[in-house]
Amino acid sequence: MPARAAFAAFLSDRVVDARVDEPLALHTTLRIGGTADWFVRPRDERELADILRAARECDVPWRILGSGANILVGDAGVCGVVLHLGRMRRRDGTQVQAGYSLSQLVKETVAEGVSGLEFLAGVPASIGGAIVMNAGGRYGEIAQSVRAVDVVTPEGDVRRLSRGEVPFRYRSWGLAPGHIALAAGFQWTPDPGTRARYDAVLAQKKATQPLGSPNAGCVFKNPPGRHAGRLIDEAGLKGARSGRAHVSRKHANFIINEGKAIAADVHRLIDLVRARVNERFEVDLELEILTW
Ligand code: EPU
Repeated sequence: MPARAAFAAFLSDRVVDARVDEPLALHTTLRIGGTADWFVRPRDERELADILRAARECDVPWRILGSGANILVGDAGVCGVVLHLGRMRRRDGTQVQAGYSLSQLVKETVAEGVSGLEFLAGVPASIGGAIVMNAGGRYGEIAQSVRAVDVVTPEGDVRRLSRGEVPFRYRSWGLAPGHIALAAGFQWTPDPGTRARYDAVLAQKKATQPLGSPNAGCVFKNPPGRHAGRLIDEAGLKGARSGRAHVSRKHANFIINEGKAIAADVHRLIDLVRARVNERFEVDLELEILTW
């Protein structure tokens, strides 16, 4: 049997939640993206390990999609299997699984009166995505509250890494490609001021970011010592458009899908923003969002 057919047979025999030709636009906050050959939601770590092994044996490329909040998927979609860890969302004693919602965890811990992640109020992400991207902003990044991360290594072994063993940096956890975040444990400190800080961060976000329309958060990284949003704004690009996508008038580092935008619209807008900011300030903006 050819390898792709063998993989398809493995999925239909052994995996419950596997879909074929799934539109990734359904799974990204930008609501953009072509199809994945297979879209699979493993029930637990064992099923995930089995799928990874089968993909390796059948030479099928795999990727992990978190909550789709920080990604631009191309109109042609992706080959191979996209793994979504949304069914792996247990929170027990110390560890929180990768598929758990970050905003849910933040809300729960604020209600419990423990400090640790309240500065990430309103950041849409899965725990796995937030760890791999080292999610953060002006109030800090998730790395500062991490105690340990459970990973699958590229060889397929499961290991628990202490925070010191994860080389976190700006918007990345720094581990080689092929690692998967399975779960994370955090440092919690009882603190009566937690809710007030959470409310303040959320209010600031609502006032400055276009939270209501489909977007992928900040598109560009902040260059050292500068703010991408301010540079794009000062280059006069608020409201600039390409097809059905435009640069937000509320925060210039956001691109909005007006409803029917395609990835090509967004790519053209990204190129325009980069060129204008470079012309005006001689700064090369780097993408913060991932592109597939
Ligand atoms: N600014 C403008 N015009 C704009 C937008 C911003 O002049 O259109 C100015 C602001 O007035 C401010 C400065 O730029 O003086 C920085 O703006 P802001 O405080 O909104 O923070 P940011 O650096 O643009 C970062 C993160 C955000 C995070 C916020 C708040 C990056 C690339 N962005 O934004 O993260 O929500 O801090 O904590 O690090 C994301 O990662 O997707 C994201 C949105």
